Amino acid sequence: MSHSINIKSAASKEDIYTALLPQVKALVSSKEPVTTALANVAAALSQAFEKISWAGFYIFRDDILWLGPFIGKTACTAIKPGSGVCGTAFAKGETIIVPDVDKFPGHIACDSGSRSEIVVPLAGNKKIIGVLDLDSYDCSTFDETDKKYLEDFCGILKNKLDLDNYIIT
Ligand code: SME
Repeated sequence: MSHSINIKSAASKEDIYTALLPQVKALVSSKEPVTTALANVAAALSQAFEKISWAGFYIFRDDILWLGPFIGKTACTAIKPGSGVCGTAFAKGETIIVPDVDKFPGHIACDSGSRSEIVVPLAGNKKIIGVLDLDSYDCSTFDETDKKYLEDFCGILKNKLDLDNYIIT
């Protein structure tokens, strides 16, 4: 099935998220594999925001967060819970905004050009199954507005997909 995303590039961050949310809702189908849905969500976010250099998911299996669907440069394949921004957000179960990656102790530099980052836990109905990670080549790209809307995005994924039974293979 073909899908496209329509966003006006001059719109404010809030306007972009408001336009994007219903489109993502329409994009994600419970009849399709979870990997399929996550791949298109990463692409939709990357398409909507010029400042995003990398968008993707890490999915927990066998005590490791494994690289999942993403768009951007090749990245670290395995992150331990508690390590880096992704592992910390996963272990704490809370969104972490990093305005300057050099000031986050233990930040894992998959791309040396990355300057700021946001990581949002991805939860099913029973447990946290991974994280959504967005990176940017600019400092301070992500703020509380991103946190609010990205948590909404993850809420849509929780409601529409069977995340608790998703096994990355
Ligand atoms: N910077 C992340 C690692 C993942 S890459 O950014 C894609 C971290 O510190 O966990």
